[in-house]
Amino acid sequence: MNLILSIIFLTFLATQHTHGDVFDKLTSQGRHLLDQANIPGTLIRQCSCVEQEECFEIMKSQVHSCIAPCWKGFNKVTDRPDDLKKCFDSKNDMLVSLLDCFEDNIHSCDDSHAQSIMIPKKNISEVFRLGVLKVESSKKGSINLIAPIQHIVDAAGEVALCVKNCFIEKNTPSFCFDDKNCQPKLEESDAKKSLRKCTKGINWKSEAGEICECSVKAGLEDLSQYCPMFKLMASRAIRRRN
Ligand SMILES: *[C@@H]1O[C@H](CO)[C@@H](O)[C@H](O)[C@H]1NC(C)=O
Repeated sequence: MNLILSIIFLTFLATQHTHGDVFDKLTSQGRHLLDQANIPGTLIRQCSCVEQEECFEIMKSQVHSCIAPCWKGFNKVTDRPDDLKKCFDSKNDMLVSLLDCFEDNIHSCDDSHAQSIMIPKKNISEVFRLGVLKVESSKKGSINLIAPIQHIVDAAGEVALCVKNCFIEKNTPSFCFDDKNCQPKLEESDAKKSLRKCTKGINWKSEAGEICECSVKAGLEDLSQYCPMFKLMASRAIRRRN
């Protein structure tokens, strides 16, 4: 159920590595996305771990309830969208433990009992708006590689955008964090470190290869030319590790 959230988030973090793209040049002088979402001159209390956990749980269930109606975006590219969903659902356990590990390692909540740490306040809607811009600008570099499956990529983008809009709508007029008048402390350096640590044991290429083959069987035939590439990269990664 955390799938789309994880994908959006991982994509967002992954694209953070692309330096000097058009988007960076247009917006600011190399400032990171999360900093750009700060509301200047405004501080807010850092959430306790209990508060943060409550809000994360609410957000996850919101994303979950948004995925069902938005998944129909895949109807354009397959007549078996439910089978396609199963391909991803089968990876749910892995993603849940990845997200848990991530949450445990970013040290974003205040586990003292004083609850008096003040941090720069972020505009949460702005984080999502900038995230979408960032992902869109990062797509530009890989046009040729994905040209044969552009329609699938577009459908996936449509689903992700739908989930994002649905999520924002569910949090209008206020996010859970607004109601508690606190926010988690999110810093990109912590997030990246934590992501690296939590993904260490996962062979992404092998997982991607399995999802790829499953998706082909669920009607995304055009993907089939890409699956052997994942498999090859996965076996190389395993050989390198041994
Ligand atoms: C937060 O960002 C949204 C757009 O992303 C904007 O409409 C809104 O005015 C911003 N709020 C604050 C307090 O800066």
